[in-house]
Parts: sequence; C-alpha cells; structure tokens
Amino acid sequence: MDDKLVINGGKPLSGEIHVSGSKNSAVAVLAAALLCEGVCVVENLPTIEDVVVLKSMMEALGAKVELDGSTARIDASDINRYHAPIELVRKMRASNYLIGALLGRLGRAQVGIPGGCDIGTRPMDLHEKGLRALGASMALVRGEYVCNAKNLIGAEIYLDHASVGATINIMLAACKAQGRTVIVNAAREPHVVDVANFLGSMGANIKGAGTDTIRIRGVAHLHGSRYSILPDMIETGTWMAIAAATKGDITIRDCVPFHMESVSAKLEEMGMYVEEGEDYLRVKGTGRPRPVSITTMVYPGFPTDLQQPFAVLLSVASGHSVINETIYESRYKYIDELRRMGAEVRVMDRIAMIDGVEALWGTEVSATDLRAGAALVVAGLMADGTTSISNVKYIDRGYEHITEKLVSLGADVRRIREG
Ligand code: EPZ
Repeated sequence: MDDKLVINGGKPLSGEIHVSGSKNSAVAVLAAALLCEGVCVVENLPTIEDVVVLKSMMEALGAKVELDGSTARIDASDINRYHAPIELVRKMRASNYLIGALLGRLGRAQVGIPGGCDIGTRPMDLHEKGLRALGASMALVRGEYVCNAKNLIGAEIYLDHASVGATINIMLAACKAQGRTVIVNAAREPHVVDVANFLGSMGANIKGAGTDTIRIRGVAHLHGSRYSILPDMIETGTWMAIAAATKGDITIRDCVPFHMESVSAKLEEMGMYVEEGEDYLRVKGTGRPRPVSITTMVYPGFPTDLQQPFAVLLSVASGHSVINETIYESRYKYIDELRRMGAEVRVMDRIAMIDGVEALWGTEVSATDLRAGAALVVAGLMADGTTSISNVKYIDRGYEHITEKLVSLGADVRRIREG
C-alpha cells in the first residue's frame, strides 16, 4: 500500500523554505564514490528514497556506507563485486552511473537496464558510444549490460545530444582512463559540474565542466575527500511555481539563483514578482498568470523537469499557452490527471496547448512519475476543494520531507496511508 496526500487547496503559501541537496547530483556523486580507494564523506544529501536505494546497491558491491541524516560516509576501499542487484537497478535511472564507476574502478561491470520515470524511451546509446570509445566492451545480455575494459584509454567523444547521464557516465570512467579524454557537446547542468568538482576533490583531473567541452586526464588513483552536494534546482523551481500558483509569498533559502535564471525569467514574463539574493529567491504570486510559451531545453534553457509543475501554473493563465517538450517524447502522461481537475489541455506529440481556465477543482488523482507528482501537488494547492493524490512514492523519490515543508508554509495537507 502507498500513501496519499490529501490537500485542501486555495490557500496562499507564505514563509521561508530551505532547499535540500540536489537529487540528481546526490545519486551521481554517491556512485562516483565507488572510484575512491579510501573513505569519502558526502554532506547535504537529500533524505530521499533514491539515496537509500543507491546505498543498498553500493553495499551489495562491497562498499561500506553509513548514512546519518544528510551525511554519508562511504568506504569503497575493498569493493570487489561488479554485478549490481538487478531488482534495485531497475528502481531508478541513476543506476546507470554504476557502469562508469565500476569500469573505472574494477574494469568490469554488470548492470541491468536502468529504471526511472516513464517519460520516454530513455535510450543508452550515447552511454554505450562513450564507454566503448574508451575501450570498454558493452553487451546487453538478458537485460543486463555486461561490460569489460582491460584498459581504459582516453578518447575524443562527440555526444549527438548533450545527455546529462552520458556526460557523467563517461566522466566517471574517463577519470581513470590512460591519457586524455575530451567530451564534445557535453551537458552543462549544475549537477554535472557538481560531480566533476567531487571527482576533482578526490584527485581527478577534469577541466571545462559546465561548458560544452570537458577535458579529462586519467589518473591512477582517487583518494578520499569530504564534499557537500549543491542545492536542488528542480526543488527550487517547484517552490517558485507553488508561490506563483497559490498567490503566496515564499522565500527559498540555500538555493543558487544563477541556476534558476530561465525559470525566474519565465515567471516574470507571467507577471510574477521574483527577487534574487546571494543565496535566496523570493517569489510572490501577483494574481492570474499571463499566458506564455515554454520550450524545454538542456541547461541553461528551461529545465524539462519543471515542465510539469509549470504546465499546471499555465492551466489557470488568462489565455492560451504552448509548451514544447524537446527533451522527452512522452512527458505528458500527467495531463489526463490534470484534465480531471478541469484543465483544458490538448497534446499533439511534444506540444501541449493549454487554454487557461478560471480555476481547477479538487478531486482524486494519481501521480504517474516524480515530477508529475510534484505537478499534482501544485494543482492541489491552488484548486478549489480537496485533492487526493495517490502514488506518493513517486514524490518521495525526489522531494525530501515534502509534507512537513508544505505545512510549514501554511498548506492544509495530510499524508494518509491507503488501505
Ligand atoms: C537526467 O536524466 C535526470 N535524471 C532527469 O531527471 C532529467 O530529466 C534529465 O537528466 C535531463 O535533464 C538524473 O539525473 C537521475 P539525459 P538522464 O541523458 O541522464 C537523449 C528527474 O525528474 N538521450 O540528458 O536520463 C534522450 O532523448 C529526472 O529528476 C539519448 O538519445 O537524461 C533523452 O530523452 C527525470 N541517448 C534525453 O537525451 C542517451 O544515451 C535526456 O536524457 C541518453 C540520452
């Protein structure tokens, strides 16, 4: 049985919220710690389901992982197993980082096809292209990638798409390869930079992270380090959407405003108030959003992971809005749930056409994936009446203490166990 969130909507949310560490950075940094022949301490981890699952996978590979709140102590000195437990691997996309880390550390990896949100086919061809270019063999055998690399040799790798996962996976293996690797058309997301900085803190030689060309010189060993994960930009953007949607006034602390520029600009275009500080953002909902168009892009463009919460905001805009989802081919499954709440949205391929309505109404809905769950929370907070969201397990994968944080801002929300 899974929990439900029951929200009585229509209340402006106001106050201060502290952003947790980035989910998409945390899962990559933890996997990267397997490369270390010593002890690493990673701080500011979000206490979310994906971190717990990754800990179990790392322990199955022989690492000792102590998780104390938001701090993990990882001792990967004696890892000697390269076959990740398939039932855990299929729980999330980030399992694919075990391939690059195990190849870099042991020269072998056996990792199942990763799981993750059902938002598209989520191919692995660019991961395969990059790791094979480094000299690894990578064959899909009964649903598992069986990989071997007697020697990893640096190479120049061009990514057809600036894939976050492929960029990180290649970096993990390349930092232990012999010689020089260049990743061209690399992803520039902040969490890619965070992983590169963590690898550098362990002695890796990586330059250019955050640009579209990353240069890596392999090293023989990586030593222990202490590192703190960067704030979660998608959680930050979700609170920004909630402030606007509920006509509230939320100050989001411990975030990186620079990472949110495309989101802040879009909110201002909608007529919302956005104030930027050194390490905080303040967003005030000024009334009904103006209609806008949104095209999701790789960083620094508008993040695909905020497409769903922002579509909810536009569902009550004062006119017609258009969303073009260029990253995933089927990231609109949640629209059917939104229609149950009165949204008027037509979807054609990657385009969503939204006719703003006066208001949504509360009803029973179900989360279809992590960010769809977040979107339904935004919808429930602004809808008239009561919204009950099932499949909360999706939300727990990426949002730490979501109920407590909402209540601290004045939301009328309860978490109930089904059945
Ligand atoms: C990461 O997924 C994130 N997940 C996703 O966040 C995020 O949506 C995505 O990056 C884009 O920002 C984690 O970091 C764990 P990609 P990933 O490789 O690595 C193409 C969330 O809600 N592609 O950039 O899988 C393909 O079209 C999750 O937190 C290939 O063609 O993203 C894919 O749709 C959802 N071949 C697109 O890139 C490949 O080998 C984006 O993939 C890989 C990707």
